[in-house]
Amino acid sequence: MTPTHYSSTQKALHWVVAVLIAGLVLVAITMVNLGEGDLQNRLYELHKSFGLTVLALVLARILVRLSRGAPELEAGIPAWQRRAAHASHAALYGLILLVPLLGWAGTSACCAPVNWFGLVSLTLPISGGMPVGERILGVHKLAAFLLVFLALIHAAAALHHHLIRRDGTLRRMLPGHGRV
Ligand code: HEM
Ligand code: HEM
Repeated sequence: MTPTHYSSTQKALHWVVAVLIAGLVLVAITMVNLGEGDLQNRLYELHKSFGLTVLALVLARILVRLSRGAPELEAGIPAWQRRAAHASHAALYGLILLVPLLGWAGTSACCAPVNWFGLVSLTLPISGGMPVGERILGVHKLAAFLLVFLALIHAAAALHHHLIRRDGTLRRMLPGHGRV
């Protein structure tokens, strides 16, 4: 049955993943532009560990989404906008899964071990060395910037609903609004 609202787990996962992705992008841009050294290494390790954390949260989020579903979009939204909303949500789900997987695969192939917060070794057995790893990381970067672009349009659409259309779209993704 279609739920009437997003559960608090769905809302929490949505906002935690969004904040972590924003942080990961800022750390990534900083780390690749720093000179070699301790700080750069530390930022790479943080980027990889938080990136894998996002992957785990996204897997949990997709399981919740598949088992619970999502509420219907607000009434009165034109058909093309409904199609655009569904397509962009599907694309966002695809990218938040693909981006960390590519980062993980590329790093494992190219050059560095993947160690989750120094606690668990998670390097994947991918051969091909530097050339393969660099190519995968190139796609990782491209997909990550596409994700940023889509997320900005998505956030602008949410604000448009809230401030201009004045419907409940944004409110229903916020804490404390259990019923639509
Ligand atoms: C949702 C999660 C992630 C996001 C949003 C993300 C985002 C990015 C972005 C935007 C860049 C490009 C920075 C630039 O060149 O200006 C980047 C680079 C990189 N990412 Fe990620 N990343 C994520 C997850 C991961 C994971 C899980 C790993 C590895 C386990 C990883 C490893 C790397 C590495 C090694 C680079 C640097 C590539 C280079 O030196 O050119 N990332 N990431
Ligand atoms: C990296 C950042 C973000 C990602 C990856 C993301 C991803 C998603 C996805 C996949 C959905 C569909 C949920 C579902 O049906 O299961 C969604 C819904 C939603 N997001 Fe985001 N989001 C991000 C940031 C934001 C921001 C910054 C805002 C607000 C300014 C926002 C507002 C919303 C709202 C209001 C919904 C509910 C739409 C509805 O079903 O009516 N999101 N988001």
